[in-house]
Amino acid sequence: MPPEVMAERGPVAAAQTRALPATPALSARNFERVSALFQNVSGIRLTAAKHALVVTRLARLAGEAGESDLDRYVERLLAGALPPAETTRVVDRLTTNETYFFREPEHFRHFAELLERHPERPWRVWSGASSSGEEIYSLAMLMADRLGQGDHRWSVLGTDLSTAMVEQGRRALYPAGRTNGIPGPYLKRYCLKGTGEHEGRLLVAGALRQRTRFETLNLMQPLPAGHGPFDAIWLRNVLIYFDVEAKTAIVRRVLQALAPHGVLYTGHAESLVSLGLPIRGLAPAVYVHA
Ligand SMILES: C[S@@+](CC[C@H](N)C(=O)[O-])C[C@H]1O[C@@H](n2cnc3c(N)ncnc32)[C@H](O)[C@@H]1O
Repeated sequence: MPPEVMAERGPVAAAQTRALPATPALSARNFERVSALFQNVSGIRLTAAKHALVVTRLARLAGEAGESDLDRYVERLLAGALPPAETTRVVDRLTTNETYFFREPEHFRHFAELLERHPERPWRVWSGASSSGEEIYSLAMLMADRLGQGDHRWSVLGTDLSTAMVEQGRRALYPAGRTNGIPGPYLKRYCLKGTGEHEGRLLVAGALRQRTRFETLNLMQPLPAGHGPFDAIWLRNVLIYFDVEAKTAIVRRVLQALAPHGVLYTGHAESLVSLGLPIRGLAPAVYVHA
């Protein structure tokens, strides 16, 4: 920009102009190609409305791979010119991982009642889209509270497509500002306040971490041998990303891992009614085998 134009617009406008980072461009064709790659792996279709989001999410990865041109980055990725782990990083980056402790609390109230009514059950629990682990540790806190940490062998398995999320879950370390949902007594009993380099963070207590496990698992693929049976399966806020066909196939697969008396929780925005599945509703977004 010539200096006289800068002077006309004044110093503030000039500073703003300088501060704005250039938005990298991604052609419609390369957006389609990278969306197809993502759909192939995750089963999730990104519509054209997600173009800007994809640009934002991939721009940093491209930079880290030493590529300032997003189109070139996608082309190198698809041509196999980047290390194979780059595809995993792209898939990780494009998934939506929003989650928090004790999200949709009615489900936790419902589950607490079940635990109290059936303490004799083994209570093997699986969350099939556990993201960064908040749902897993919310369940673990509730189960420790209602079933104890002694003789009862309850356990919680968290799985997710995203390896980055699975690693975060294993770390069990959360910014203190993101733990609002945890009831006060649970915070005192089951969480450790970080000090030193972990100041401002919170670590879930080891006794709870010992009862939890995190693995990667793609819901679009057949379940691994020996997966289940589970007394409760949490499949919340993930089905919304799939079309009816994929959603139906996923729930059918997941039901194979649900014990005959088992309970399935989905997100409150994810109705399974009208999919023709062999289930019946027990409460809002809570299902059992028909
Ligand atoms: C919005 S989070 C939901 C987290 C948690 N269940 C909750 O309700 O707060 C959705 C998660 O689903 C995962 N996901 C997306 N596609 C998946 C797939 N094909 N298989 C397994 N997990 C998947 C994402 O990586 C993400 O962590």
